[in-house]
Amino acid sequence: METIQEKKLSTFAVDVLEGLQAKPKYLSSKYFYDEAGSRLFQQIMHIPEYYLTDCELEIFQDKGNSIIQAYGMNGQAFDLIELGAGDGLKTKVLLEKMWQLKKDFTCIPVDISATALNDLENNIRCSLPEINISVLKGDYFEMLSHWQHQKPKVLLFLGSNLGNFSMEQTRNFLSDLRNVLNKGDQLLLGLDLQKDPEVILQAYNDPHGLTAQFNLNLLARINKEMDADFRLELFEHKEVYNPDNGLAISYLISKEEQEVTLKLTNEIIRFTKGEGIFTEQSQKYSKTMIEEMAQQSGFEIVSWFYDKKNWFADVLWRVP
Ligand code: AVI
Repeated sequence: METIQEKKLSTFAVDVLEGLQAKPKYLSSKYFYDEAGSRLFQQIMHIPEYYLTDCELEIFQDKGNSIIQAYGMNGQAFDLIELGAGDGLKTKVLLEKMWQLKKDFTCIPVDISATALNDLENNIRCSLPEINISVLKGDYFEMLSHWQHQKPKVLLFLGSNLGNFSMEQTRNFLSDLRNVLNKGDQLLLGLDLQKDPEVILQAYNDPHGLTAQFNLNLLARINKEMDADFRLELFEHKEVYNPDNGLAISYLISKEEQEVTLKLTNEIIRFTKGEGIFTEQSQKYSKTMIEEMAQQSGFEIVSWFYDKKNWFADVLWRVP
């Protein structure tokens, strides 16, 4: 019979165990996106308090043609690679405009969520059947090493997805990206900007309770995949925002002293009352931070595109 030590644990189980045994406790936000979590995130993107989607959609609707003009590729075949594509609602606006402008491109959405990719592929094939699309399921860090495409590339990294990386992950990610790209390749980064803290807190602690469900779903996932007994009603979603560094942080707070058993590995995790599990950071950027990130990772900034409220920016970077 297999002992616990011999049991091959999934990366998810290993990471969860490491995070829950750490002091302070943490869980990676990349694990939000199981099927239920992906559906919840799609719902969050449609609520008015989560302004990020509307702002970026407005940029693409109003300034899409200028963005496409800025990355050029006139008459040249290229790959349009979207990292963390999600449901691709905003990208569709850009794709439609690119098709109208007769651009010669293949759309390659990359995502860790098979659910989101299937929805996106079906959606594009139905509404824009003329577009070449080829989806890739996986972690973008892994994807980077597999790119052999020789065509020029325009990468899309939208929705402020970069904001979920720590500073160190951001630095590594951008320089890894820079290293797999060739001279002239471009990156369109959608980044959420620093603003009134109240607006940010409303977006990440919405009155519909969807963000709370999204955060708590992580515990439900651990219950399912690690045979654990988290009682979701004994944890609370908490959001804090620090205007000094632009970090919005999500926690799950234990409402009382309690023990949770992870039967898969036979571990007991103890919580004190008020103890938190760090589950996500969402960086809000200043213009200076964006300029420094581009410079430090070896890109040059080509153009900035803002929504009317100046809450969000899509910034085009190029490999010099
Ligand atoms: C995917 N990512 C950019 C979202 C964000 O805004 O940080 C995830 C999210 N977390 C809570 N609400 C949305």
